[in-house]
Amino acid sequence: MDTVEPSGRSVLKGRRLLLGVTGGIAAYKACVLTRLLRLRGASVRVVMTRTAERFVGPATFAALTDHRVYTDLFDDDPGHVLHVRLAHEADIVVVAPATANVIAKLAFGIADDLLTSTLLEARCPFVIAPAMHTGMWEHEATQANIAALAERGVRVVGPARGSLAAGDEGVGRMSEPDEILAVIEDVLSRGKDLAGRRVVVTAGPTWEPIDPVRFVGNRSTGRMGFAVAAEAYGRGADVTLVVGPGTIEPPEGPRVVRVTTADEMRHAVFDAAEGADAVVMAAAVADFRPERTAGSKIKKEDGTPDLRLVPTPDILGELSREAGERVLVGFAAETDDVEAGGRDKLARKGVDLLVANQVGREGMGFGSETNRAAIFSRTGEGEPLREWSKRELAAAICDRLVKLLTR
Ligand code: CTP
Repeated sequence: MDTVEPSGRSVLKGRRLLLGVTGGIAAYKACVLTRLLRLRGASVRVVMTRTAERFVGPATFAALTDHRVYTDLFDDDPGHVLHVRLAHEADIVVVAPATANVIAKLAFGIADDLLTSTLLEARCPFVIAPAMHTGMWEHEATQANIAALAERGVRVVGPARGSLAAGDEGVGRMSEPDEILAVIEDVLSRGKDLAGRRVVVTAGPTWEPIDPVRFVGNRSTGRMGFAVAAEAYGRGADVTLVVGPGTIEPPEGPRVVRVTTADEMRHAVFDAAEGADAVVMAAAVADFRPERTAGSKIKKEDGTPDLRLVPTPDILGELSREAGERVLVGFAAETDDVEAGGRDKLARKGVDLLVANQVGREGMGFGSETNRAAIFSRTGEGEPLREWSKRELAAAICDRLVKLLTR
């Protein structure tokens, strides 16, 4: 079976997969599936039901995924609602094995534990691999539930005919891990609408040195740019991610170029933008830098330093003045009138898309998982100001990139 793309890159590389494991003996095969997914570069989070824990221990999945396994709706996740976070983080949800019980709950929208609550919240593609005794599988209730799920776009793999628990034979055996893997790859490789495109994304702050230990900077963590880079990469783009200092970990997949100052970011962006199809400037580039950087640490006894600031290069402004077919996306961090600021910057910066963000409020903008933002487009296909998860916003930006690149 060929599970690697011709480019040598598996569609699973860097993708975030949520694996739901429910109670059946086939849970042991979910361990093999996890191993296969990890070998292809996927990042896997496992949610187990209580019954699944009777068949395989969470420690097994924790070791295979290098991550804790979630079993309880109230598992500790400071600052987040666990099932909402897990659902929003996933690029794809896989339930293997899927019992008749979880299939019924999913069909009816019942959310009475961590897994089913996560499943109800998730909006990404679903793959389920049923496993149960023949009678349960053939029961008209199960068949109706499966038909309802298939109708909603859930991909169902198997079940196969073969030996079942307690020495029985028949239809109901979970498909083999490599078959489930092939279906997951097939589902993920649909949505490759940025394949063959080169996209440059910037993320994080820049630090402008005052002396060897101090700098002028801002609170950006890189989350927004990372979400755009991960989304574009997942949709098949060749992504270069230019990252400022002090950010959280960048996503796996994109080529990462690290810089510190606005000047370095400018060089890195112009290098990467050569021949690129789009540049997304999500970085919070410092607008000013100290005119002079002291060669050694400024001492208190020398008195309060006179800090004169001068503007940094406006990278986006320069890019927009360069001729070319490149699509340009700018961000505007606004504390006051977000919509007016966004509209103004769309025109002033000469960009195709402008994402205007509300910053400076608790739980919003820098460092948070959500953004209050509006999208302005040169072609008028914008989005009004509302709350988004950063992933959702990244997906909306990539949807518009695809449109702008194909017009
Ligand atoms: N930007 C840039 N180079 C800079 C400063 C900003 O390329 N030196 C980019 C940012 O990455 C962002 C956009 O310009 O995509 C807007 O940044 P923002 O700081 O909100 O806007 P400014 O034009 O700097 O306006 P102001 O700070 O006055 O609101």
